[in-house]
Amino acid sequence: MIIINSIKELQQATQNLKSSIGFVPTMGALHEGHLSLIRKAKIENDKLIVSIFVNPTQFLEGEDFNKYPRKDEADKKICQLAGVDILFMPSIDIMYERDELKITAPAVRGFILEGNSRAGHFDGVLQIVMKLLNLVSYNKPSILRAYFGKKDAQQLSLITQMVKNYFLNIEIVPCNIVRDSDGLALSSRNIYLSKEERTKALSLSRSLKRASKLVMQNELDSDTIINEMRKVLSGVKIEYIAIINREFQQINSIKIGDTIILIACYVGETRLIDNIWI
Ligand code: PAJ
Repeated sequence: MIIINSIKELQQATQNLKSSIGFVPTMGALHEGHLSLIRKAKIENDKLIVSIFVNPTQFLEGEDFNKYPRKDEADKKICQLAGVDILFMPSIDIMYERDELKITAPAVRGFILEGNSRAGHFDGVLQIVMKLLNLVSYNKPSILRAYFGKKDAQQLSLITQMVKNYFLNIEIVPCNIVRDSDGLALSSRNIYLSKEERTKALSLSRSLKRASKLVMQNELDSDTIINEMRKVLSGVKIEYIAIINREFQQINSIKIGDTIILIACYVGETRLIDNIWI
């Protein structure tokens, strides 16, 4: 594995990679969720590139940019063991200059749910992902596949749309959510949770399980399902529960194969999101 910190080195290292490249962008503090993307990308491609960059432009004023977990040494070992070929770990000043051209999230899909709660967050995500995708595909590999988790469903949807709207020759590969054995969706932010908060946080996945059970019993009405989910949630502050189709439009009735149920809650000071694809 080579570790690269500069753009020039990355361009040189990818110069002779004309075959398929799998790319997994991350903000580090790697866990099994990230690793599932990395393993999938490893199997499906000739070469594997992972990036670790805690992107300042996607954190809002007052969010956890400064305390976001940074575990560079452990992450390097994890990537080495997972068979990563190139680990790209740039600094802020090589990724950004002062007065930059911006990308704005689309007006409808980008401004509901996470986009509503965290105004401007997706602009920053799209900006950095565009930069990273361009860097990794600089030497025009025959195939570039970029891997993103369904855990961040709206992010995945907006990145897919960006690739489409900007005619990028990149395949976006959606990856399933990885959970702890008790159901909690893995997240780098879970380390903020105290023991009691972690127990409370389990009600997010429990509420989604309840929803999927209701669907299996043929209860398809969105309001009924959301009400039932609320009954399961305790000790958390609900920010939103939403039932949408794959186009991110709110729907009154669930359509199997075309629905995502999403939830965002505060557990103490920590904001958690989770979802289930039906
Ligand atoms: P980060 O939160 O580090 O996540 C990197 C990737 O791992 C994302 O695609 C995310 O959806 C996926 N992921 C995280 N937890 C997961 C889980 N439990 N199961 C499956 N996949 C999971 O998302 C970001 O970083 C950033 O916004 C980024 C895209 C890197 C841009 O800065």
